[in-house]
Amino acid sequence: MRRDHKRNRRDARAALAALQRNPHVLRMKDYTQHGRVSTYEHCARVTEASCRLNRALHLNADETTLVRGAMLHDFYLYDWHHRDGTHRWHGLHHADRAADNAARLLGANERVCHVIRSHMWPLTLRRVPRSREAWIVCLADKWCSAAETLFHR
Ligand SMILES: [Fe+2]
Ligand SMILES: [Fe+2]
Repeated sequence: MRRDHKRNRRDARAALAALQRNPHVLRMKDYTQHGRVSTYEHCARVTEASCRLNRALHLNADETTLVRGAMLHDFYLYDWHHRDGTHRWHGLHHADRAADNAARLLGANERVCHVIRSHMWPLTLRRVPRSREAWIVCLADKWCSAAETLFHR
């Protein structure tokens, strides 16, 4: 059991390292999320916070799904500050867009796509988180977004 646990952590670390050097994922460095924080940096923070939450509260989430979902939760690949009309409903639609990109560009599985699609709940009313991983990322994202908006202007 203990060995499984260690292996899961090692797999999750490897999955995260692979994502963080993927050229599609690195494109998130070109977009601003909140204040002076890039989308990439925001996703990295949410990943870190999600792992901490999972461990501190012994939530037993699958760490590989957790880090993939967290690192890709805002993988929508555009700058939402550009008011050109195409991203007007960013808050409502970016999670679906990010999940589609994750599936299309990185082959993300359905569990990971669910984490991404439901991270904006309750704003996206019908996208209710239905897994531990999805609940953790949904909470960690709100916490990190609030901190970035308040302290990284
Ligand atoms: Fe988001
Ligand atoms: Fe986010």
